[in-house]
Amino acid sequence: PVTKVDLEILATPHPLGDAERAQRMQNPAFGRVFTEHMVVIPYAADRGWLRGQIRPYAPITLDPAAMVLHYGQAIFEGFKAYRQPDGRIKTFRPEANARRFNSSARRLAMPEMPVDLFVGAVDALIRQDRAWVPSPVGESLYVRPLMFATEAALGVRASRDYDFLVIASPAGAYFPQGVKPVTVWISEDFVRAAPGGTGAAKFAGNYAASLLAQMNAAAEGCAQVVWLDAVQRSVVEEMGGMNIFFVYEERGRPVIVTPELTGTLLPGITRDSIIQLARDFGYAAEERRVTFDEWRAAVREGRMTEAFACGTAAVITPIGAVKSREGTFSIHNNETGPVATRFREALLDIQHGLAPDRHGWMHDV
Ligand code: COI
Repeated sequence: PVTKVDLEILATPHPLGDAERAQRMQNPAFGRVFTEHMVVIPYAADRGWLRGQIRPYAPITLDPAAMVLHYGQAIFEGFKAYRQPDGRIKTFRPEANARRFNSSARRLAMPEMPVDLFVGAVDALIRQDRAWVPSPVGESLYVRPLMFATEAALGVRASRDYDFLVIASPAGAYFPQGVKPVTVWISEDFVRAAPGGTGAAKFAGNYAASLLAQMNAAAEGCAQVVWLDAVQRSVVEEMGGMNIFFVYEERGRPVIVTPELTGTLLPGITRDSIIQLARDFGYAAEERRVTFDEWRAAVREGRMTEAFACGTAAVITPIGAVKSREGTFSIHNNETGPVATRFREALLDIQHGLAPDRHGWMHDV
């Protein structure tokens, strides 16, 4: 079995010219344009991880009985590569994504992957397609590692065979209208995750299960759904596919509060980074339960000044208004607040090499 990256490189025989590539990289919508290569590493139960390939980006073939199509073993990750001022390329905390990938794999009864193999495979793809990493601040190359069950068998059990893939997509802004506060819908009809379920895994099915609630939110005129816990139906957990933060003000200083990781939340790497940055800024940072009632009361009483969501794709998304069956309230006058702006700029500065990397987050590709 392979534990260190050693990929056979099959480069595309028809590389794009600079002009064509530049044109495809012009304001791409999120996740619609892909680079010219992909990584494929197979896994077999009896042999472990096999030697993989970098090969031209193209559709893949799957047996119609492939277990992923029936019983849904599919997990993924997402992180970004950033062009540095000197032209080099760095990724943000890829080992953290590798570790989370393995905890997702454990929950879905899938094989874990050595961290060096995961990170090395992504590095190899980025190096192969390095011309696709944009330079402007706020733009990046989004990498999407994924793994799914390939064994052709209809018995309900863990697949014996899997494919690990990495694809990459040049990314501008996730929300095309820019950093504008969103209105969110509190979902009382659906839950994202229950204790003992798959909520802490970056599992494809979690996203499938969220889509109907997201459509309901859209029908209510809201951009995103906010999830409450499955048991009490009162504790705020996440916004869409992102973690959520509340900014309180105590004696003139921000206090950052985010829901604690109870096992039903996705442990976001941007979330973790914001907690660390808050401490750098001298803000108090708390991980604890926040109920919807507390949220509404804290805004009404002026104790909560901002709320925002965070994730790799969109970085920081301010929450401007909150709608539920009982009505709507707005936060910070439905405008982007200074604390959300400060975190966003601090993260982007570190990622693009414009501020010192005090936490050792950046990884040389
Ligand atoms: C992120 O915020 O990066 C996400 O996880 C959303 C992604 C599934 C597009």
